[in-house]
Amino acid sequence: MNRRLNRMLSVLLAALCVSALPVPVSAGGGSRPVYAEDIQNGTYEIEAETLNSSMFRIVGCTLTVTDEAMTARVTLSGKGFGKLYAGRGAEADRADEGAVSSFGEDEEGRHTFEIPVSALDTSVPLAGWSIKREQWYDYNVVFHSESLPDGAVTKPGNGWILPVAAGAAALALIGTIAAVGIKRKNRTGGAS
Ligand code: HEM
Repeated sequence: MNRRLNRMLSVLLAALCVSALPVPVSAGGGSRPVYAEDIQNGTYEIEAETLNSSMFRIVGCTLTVTDEAMTARVTLSGKGFGKLYAGRGAEADRADEGAVSSFGEDEEGRHTFEIPVSALDTSVPLAGWSIKREQWYDYNVVFHSESLPDGAVTKPGNGWILPVAAGAAALALIGTIAAVGIKRKNRTGGAS
């Protein structure tokens, strides 16, 4: 019975420790969002990844950071999308005209768009207007800060990992000590 109790307690403590471990918020390496104020002003090439579709492929992205705002010039793989909106399609038709980006073309005729970017390393909503089907499609995109040049990010998004890891290690230690204590107590029949 005591052994069972011990095992249950150990499992409970282990679960507590595991629950203290960092949970990734994006597919982009498990760091917290990085905002404009965390990045040096400038213009950078950045990688962008669509999480929920292979039909909305960003093949080029230039990020411009000015004080507390970021914009991106996004190049899509094809010519199927005519407009882009930094939000959900359902909101796009009600949004201010200036908030919806119509396409330009790069030297290879691919469609490019200018959009605001709220944060890097976290999933942001982007809606694409299908020219052929005349409707909005919703996508989730991550702009990856790790693809920026060294020194561009002044406050790395994963700065919290060390303190959280230290907390988890402390919890694990306390758990082990408690488990050993309980085991000893049981072995001596509870007499102390
Ligand atoms: C049920 C089947 C499919 C549906 C409903 C669908 C729907 C769409 C839609 C709505 C778009 C947005 C742009 C546009 O309308 O042209 C799109 C783009 C695209 N799809 Fe599909 N698709 C399907 C199957 C496929 C398959 C089988 C492939 C390739 C293996 C594919 C490759 C692409 C590519 C490359 C684009 C980007 C085109 C561009 O931007 O010019 N799709 N698809």
